[in-house]
Amino acid sequence: MKLRTKIKVVTMGITVVLTVTMTVVGYWSTRSTLDASLQSRVEAIAVTVALELPPAALASISSAKSAQTPEYEQLERIVRGVTTVNQTAAFPLRFVYLLVPTDEHATSGWDLAVDSDPRDSPDWTIPGTPYNFSPSVVPVAPIDGSVPTVRHLDDQWGSWISGYAPVRTADGAVVGLVGVDIAYRDFVAQLDWLLWWACTLAVILSVVMYTVVEVAINRLLRPIGQLREFISTIGAGHFDQRLDTNPLTEFLPVVNELNTMASQLGERAKLVRKNAELSENVTRQSTRLEAIADVDAQMNEIQDIDILIEAILADARRLVGCDAGSVLLREGDELLLTYLQNDTLRPTRADQARLVATSTRIRLDGGSICGYAALTGESVVADDAYHIPADRPYRFNPEVDQSTGYRTRAVLAIPLRTSAGKIVGVLQLLNPVEKNGEPRLGFSKEDIDAVTHFSSAATVALERAALTRSIVLRMIRMAEMRDPSETAHHVNRVAAYSVVLYEGLARKHAFDSARVQRERDTLRIAAMLHDVGKVGIPDAILKKAGRLTAEEYAGMQKHAEIGAQLFAERESVLDRSAFEVALHHHERWDGAGYPGMVTIPPSSTPPGSLGGVGVSSRSEPPPIMQGEGIPLFARIVAVADVFDALSSKRQYKDAWPEDRVLKEMSVNAGRQFDPELIEILLENLPQMRSVAARYS
Ligand code: C2E
Ligand code: SIN
Ligand code: SIN
Ligand code: FE
Ligand code: FE
Repeated sequence: MKLRTKIKVVTMGITVVLTVTMTVVGYWSTRSTLDASLQSRVEAIAVTVALELPPAALASISSAKSAQTPEYEQLERIVRGVTTVNQTAAFPLRFVYLLVPTDEHATSGWDLAVDSDPRDSPDWTIPGTPYNFSPSVVPVAPIDGSVPTVRHLDDQWGSWISGYAPVRTADGAVVGLVGVDIAYRDFVAQLDWLLWWACTLAVILSVVMYTVVEVAINRLLRPIGQLREFISTIGAGHFDQRLDTNPLTEFLPVVNELNTMASQLGERAKLVRKNAELSENVTRQSTRLEAIADVDAQMNEIQDIDILIEAILADARRLVGCDAGSVLLREGDELLLTYLQNDTLRPTRADQARLVATSTRIRLDGGSICGYAALTGESVVADDAYHIPADRPYRFNPEVDQSTGYRTRAVLAIPLRTSAGKIVGVLQLLNPVEKNGEPRLGFSKEDIDAVTHFSSAATVALERAALTRSIVLRMIRMAEMRDPSETAHHVNRVAAYSVVLYEGLARKHAFDSARVQRERDTLRIAAMLHDVGKVGIPDAILKKAGRLTAEEYAGMQKHAEIGAQLFAERESVLDRSAFEVALHHHERWDGAGYPGMVTIPPSSTPPGSLGGVGVSSRSEPPPIMQGEGIPLFARIVAVADVFDALSSKRQYKDAWPEDRVLKEMSVNAGRQFDPELIEILLENLPQMRSVAARYS
């Protein structure tokens, strides 16, 4: 219960009990006092009348038993006179009467002799009428007339106070009784007003008390209420609030204490906030460091430069939280916008960050953001790309936005610098976002630091990948020098087509992302090397314009085994994949391809001296290889290779239009090709076209 209510209930309870008690006690004490005074007055009247009466007259009435005597009239006058004189509103005297000793009848021992009001009850006026009390009064002892008596009597006529006093002769003999009756009910009725006033008073008193209590409580509780309100304000964290001491002077020590407490809490809250910010910063930084270390480790596993750049872009975007990003690679005096990731334009699934390969080129000069970053090696930050301060030498190039419909806000461009100091490209991040995807205003210093640190790690990995790539490219160039059809573009296209097909397959069968990450770059490189065995094919066959003879063709088919021979050591995952692809990329789904199940022993001759590769010393055709028995990578490269061969010009054929190529591919689904891969090819034509456009 609230304090206020408690106080009210208690005080009102006390008030009611008190007033009720006072009323009851007051009423009853007044009533009994008045009663006592009535009784003594009744007695006094009776005694006075008894003393003043002539006893002889009474005796004569008693013997005459008639109202027609002078004595009767004398006595009647006396009692009437007494009655009249003494009767008032406050003293409701009704009757004065005289009794004489009965001869035999009356239960009281007396007969009525004279009554002050004979008309009231004519029977009673006849002297000698037995003075019988009503039946309820009969048990009361008869009045013996020895002394004055006063008693309450109730009978069928009413409720009375009756007083009796003896009338004596000179010698002391009792010859009669004087009776005096007061109507007690009338008297009680008189007291009703008293009760009424007492009750009214009690009600008034209660109301007054209630008001007094209310006012008192308010006076008492208002400051306490203010204190309590203040405490809850503080509790709600509004530590800058202070309590005004003026209306609370009685509580000054408490008020001062509370104000001090509030200011101390405020200080503490500030500290806590600061700490929270600090620790959030630390957490963010350490998460970023972990991410960088993680990326480092991952990148060292990645051998293919395209996949590496894609990973770098995805990781950099994850690192600072960015809606979009791109990598621009330097090619001579141009920057090629090589890779583009954009969650708004093209939401990526976390497990397979998709690259949009573009062919947008930017001139390498200081006028554009990325050009400036690439030329000077400085990072560029612009929080509002469309409103770059006039004192900056660079401007945002809105061309990409215009062509994509994207709206770039904040830009962060970080140069990709090799350990030799050469700038190979620019990592560009756009439109930072909060964890919940809401746009963030701009890049923070931590963002810039983190990406800078990250990009230097990324560039190291990029260099390693570039090294691997240059080795692979050298092998390819070697093949190219021998076969003009095996251009770098063909190699790149077959590799990129293979990746498109592989990713389609991975999506369809929900390969886990780790597997995709691991296999995709291996496949890409292995695909690049599919025809590397052509270095071992004599020029007469390799460079023949027009159709090959059956014999020439058989010679040409050796390129599969020769290529496999280059990776016969099968030391790394890449070697094993390159081996499978080189050996089996001309197998057919229906088993009619070549070379089938051949055994290629590890070569003792080092790669490079390919002259003595002996794979022709077979006497029997090898067992066929078909369907899913053909290694997956080989099946994929087979589709990619033929798709490219048909789409391109060869010494023996013209380039085919796309519809003809697709028709040929479809017709051969389930015969030459894994039918599922043809399905995927047809489902991913936009990506295939994008690859074709990029390497042409
Ligand atoms: P390539 O020109 O890169 O062709 C690769 C593969 O594409 C061929 O492997 C073949 O499976 C497929 N292909 C090419 N044209 C067609 C076609 O019209 N329809 C279908 N379904 N598939 C086609 P293949 O036959 O084992 O040839 C391997 C390589 O041998 C060719 O590589 C090419 O360099 C050479 N070659 C094949 N036939 C001839 C030819 O008649 N003249 C010359 N000069 N070279 C040829
Ligand atoms: C009376 O005296 O007239 C009657 C009163 C009584 O009954 O006492
Ligand atoms: C307030 O304005 O009341 C909040 C201040 C604080 O939390 O310290
Ligand atoms: Fe081939
Ligand atoms: Fe090929």
